[in-house]
Amino acid sequence: MASIAPDIGTHLHTDRANPHWVRLGDDSKLDHIPGEDGWPVLGTTLMQLADPLGFQKRMADTYGPVFRTRSFGRRGVNLVGADANELVLFDREKLFSNEQGWGPVLNLLFPRGLMLMDFEAHRIDRRALSIAFKPEPMRAYCGVLNTGIASAMAGWGGPMRLYDAIKALTLDTAASSFLGLPLGPEADRLNQAFVDMVQASVGVVRKPLPFTKMGKGVAGRRLMVEYFGRLVRERRAHPGQDMFSQFALATRDDGSLLPEDVVVDHMIFLMMAAHDTITSSATVLFWQLARNPDWQDKLRAEARAVTGGVGLSLAYEDLGRMELTEMAFKEALRFMPPVPNMPRRALRDFRFGGYDIPAGTPIGISPAAVHHDPAHWDQPQVFDPMRFTADKVAARHKYAWAPFGGGAHMCLGLHFAYMQVKLLANHILTRFEIVMQPGAEPQWQAWPIPKPRDGLKVALRRLG
Ligand code: HEM
Repeated sequence: MASIAPDIGTHLHTDRANPHWVRLGDDSKLDHIPGEDGWPVLGTTLMQLADPLGFQKRMADTYGPVFRTRSFGRRGVNLVGADANELVLFDREKLFSNEQGWGPVLNLLFPRGLMLMDFEAHRIDRRALSIAFKPEPMRAYCGVLNTGIASAMAGWGGPMRLYDAIKALTLDTAASSFLGLPLGPEADRLNQAFVDMVQASVGVVRKPLPFTKMGKGVAGRRLMVEYFGRLVRERRAHPGQDMFSQFALATRDDGSLLPEDVVVDHMIFLMMAAHDTITSSATVLFWQLARNPDWQDKLRAEARAVTGGVGLSLAYEDLGRMELTEMAFKEALRFMPPVPNMPRRALRDFRFGGYDIPAGTPIGISPAAVHHDPAHWDQPQVFDPMRFTADKVAARHKYAWAPFGGGAHMCLGLHFAYMQVKLLANHILTRFEIVMQPGAEPQWQAWPIPKPRDGLKVALRRLG
């Protein structure tokens, strides 16, 4: 899922049927909020894109936890801190719109995705889709993932670009567990469509003009609509155990099936939400394990103890026993969350941190900045899964760690993500030792989802 500057102002949404709709506020009404307008035209956009975490930290250090920025032509207000995360994510008073926060960035690409819906309409579709994450279908995905990952391992070993390998594997396993098919020759075209759509979400040109990122992204969407449109009819006629079949048969509160085009939009959004986030966070985990061999050994020992051997399947019932692996993954998500910032739009006037913030203001929160705040985390640059023991978690602000968001929009696929990463850890670590290639220390590209520029150069040494 794309992470974005919180205050992208280009307004692309046309569906005024949303009863909560509020116009973008007048920029001058934010004069009293401390912050920066940046350069003429560009505002703070480039600074935010170049180093999102550094930018958020510098601004919060300079102006405090409530500050103003101006990117993509509009002013917005960032709220940084665990309390701010709680206010916006938990949204007790239904003050914040997701549709109008994410919409300007993602609407041309992922319209009607669950994350882009608000309140009652969102509740109804979320409830319908959540059947796909109940234990029975999850057990079925677990079986399919185990088989897919194990067979891919035959081709792994030696010097590798681990990010690229995980990305390809995640797409293949998504084809089987989400769509119920081996992608075959379609894989490359679909993979490219995903890449183009995600890249387009942060394209500076916000219209789908030829040769622009947005132009390519919208073309990618057309391909996927056509592909999934065919599939939804097939799956209704002959459902399987895959996630697409679950969505195709999902019903709303009144018992009606979701319309075909709605199933397609939800599925496209979900593939995007799942694919790059898992790839990014799993890569961060294995990178940190390569740099911290003691933790790599601990996780390997845990996997061998739980499965009883080398390269064996990890059963659905045993996922809860991979405790250290779960802690290490949580630490990877703290260290570099795939969705570092989350946008909203204020629907009513509100007050936070001593400032009055008017209705219509683009709002951004930055879990990534809070994940590195020494007020919550000792030595935030150190990888330490022990931060996630039960007593440490209980002692910390509940919203100091928010890689999956929170409240009504909390990531619907988080258990799927834990499952897939535990399966990857089991299959990779019981077979291989991961070491960094000499001299390789990746530079990370922050947008739209963190990835190592060099693909993460490691060597996988086969274990006896
Ligand atoms: C490590 C992996 C993942 C991370 C870090 C992640 C993160 C997030 C975050 C932060 C949100 C909420 C954004 C907001 O409130 O603005 C979200 C929403 C969502 N995610 Fe994930 N996600 C991950 C994996 C997945 C997977 C594997 C799936 C599906 C199988 C998925 C499906 C969704 C859906 C459907 C939503 C929208 C929920 C709603 O609005 O009700 N995600 N995710």
